[in-house]
Amino acid sequence: MTTLRPDFLWGASTAPHQIEGNNINSDWWVREESSPGMQLSGDAVDSYHRYREDMQLLADAGCNSYRFGVEWARIEPRPGHFSRAELAHYRRMIETAIELGLTPVVTLHHFSSPRWFADRGGWTADGAIDHFRAYVTEVASILGGVEWVATINEPNMLAMMEMLMDQMKSGEASEWKSPTVEAAEEGKNLANNLPVPHRKYGEPFVEAHHAAREVLHELTDAKVGWTVASAALTPTPGNEEKFIEVQYDYENLYLEAARGDDFIGVQSYSSQAVDASGLVPHPPHPDNTMVGTAYRPDALGMAVRHAWEVTEGVPVLVTENGLATTDDERRIAYTQEALGHLIAASEDGVDVRGYLHWTLLDNYEWGHWEPTFGLVGVDRETFVRTPKPSLGWLGNVARLNGANILAPASTRP
Ligand code: FCB
Repeated sequence: MTTLRPDFLWGASTAPHQIEGNNINSDWWVREESSPGMQLSGDAVDSYHRYREDMQLLADAGCNSYRFGVEWARIEPRPGHFSRAELAHYRRMIETAIELGLTPVVTLHHFSSPRWFADRGGWTADGAIDHFRAYVTEVASILGGVEWVATINEPNMLAMMEMLMDQMKSGEASEWKSPTVEAAEEGKNLANNLPVPHRKYGEPFVEAHHAAREVLHELTDAKVGWTVASAALTPTPGNEEKFIEVQYDYENLYLEAARGDDFIGVQSYSSQAVDASGLVPHPPHPDNTMVGTAYRPDALGMAVRHAWEVTEGVPVLVTENGLATTDDERRIAYTQEALGHLIAASEDGVDVRGYLHWTLLDNYEWGHWEPTFGLVGVDRETFVRTPKPSLGWLGNVARLNGANILAPASTRP
C-alpha cells in the first residue's frame, strides 16, 4: 500500500549550467575564469546536445518526470535580443520529455544569469525585474503542455550570492565562493561558513517571482512555484530568538512568498543547528558528505513539514534531494531513508506531489567537479554515460509508486 497519489512524479533534476556546456554568455562562465579556487565548466557533460539520451536513461529506468532548466543567457544573449533558435531548442527538449513519457518540470532561472544582466548590477539594479519579466514572457511561448514551472531556483542561495558580490565590491569579502561546495579543501571544516542572506537581498527575488507568476498564469496553464533551499534548521538551547531571526532570513521569507503559489519546491540535503552566532558549521565527521554537510536523510521530512506549515498548505514537490558521494550504495541508503521520511509526512497529511532526485548526471558542481551527486556517471572526455545502480533502484521505486519504501518506525503513531 502507498499513500502517494497515483500521478506522483518520480524522477531527477538538473540545471542547465551544470550539464549543458559552453554557457559562454552567462555570468557564471565569467566568474569561473576570474575565481582562482574554481574549476571551469567547459563542455560540462554536453547535455545541450545529448539531452535525448539523458532523458531516455531516466525513462527507461522507470521514472515519469524530468526537471530541467532553460538558460536565460542563451535565450537572451543581448538585452532585448531573444534567440528564436534557442527557444526552439528548449521547445524540442520539452517535446522530447513528453514523447518519452516524462512530465517536464521546467526551471526558468537556476543560478546563472546573462552576463549583461550581472554587468548592469544584477537583481538589485533598476530595471532588473522588468528584464526578468520580459524573459519570462518570451519563454511562456514555448511552454505549451508543460504542467510544472519553477520560476527561480533557490532564491535564498541567490540572495546569498548577491550579498557576497556586494561584500567583494566593498572589500569585506576577498573571493567568490561556491554556493554549494563549502568544504573543498580536505581536512578543513569549512562547511556552511557561507553567510545567511540579509533579508534586503531576498526582496527583489520575491518581487521577481511574483511578477513571473503573474505572467505565467496569464499566458500558460502551468502550475507555478519556486524552489527554496531548505536547511531543516533546529535551535540550540537558549537561542530560540536568534533561531527565529536566522530561519526567517534563511528560508521563511521565501516560503511565505510562496503562499498562493500552485506548489512549493522543497530542496533538502541536510539539517543544521543555529546558535547565538547563527548557523553552526557542520562538525567534522567521517559520515559527512563530499560537500562537507552532515549525512542527514531525515532532513527531507523536516523540510517538507516546515514548508507545508509556513506556506500554509501549498502542495509540496520535492525538487531536489540527494547525496554527494562516490559510494552508490550509500546514495541508495540515503535516498531510501529520506523517502521513508517523505512518505511519513504524506501519511501525516502533507500534500506531496512528487520526488525529483538531485541529480541525474554527475556534473559541474558550481566551481567543482569532484562532488558526485549523479545517478549516472559521465566520462568527461568521451561523454559516455554509465548508469549507476541507484538509477535502476529509483526507477523501481517509481514503478511501485513507493510501495516498497517503509516510513521509519519512529515517525509512526
Ligand atoms: C542546490 C542547487 C543545485 C545543486 C545542489 C547540490 O543548492 O540548486 O544546483 O548544486 O544544490
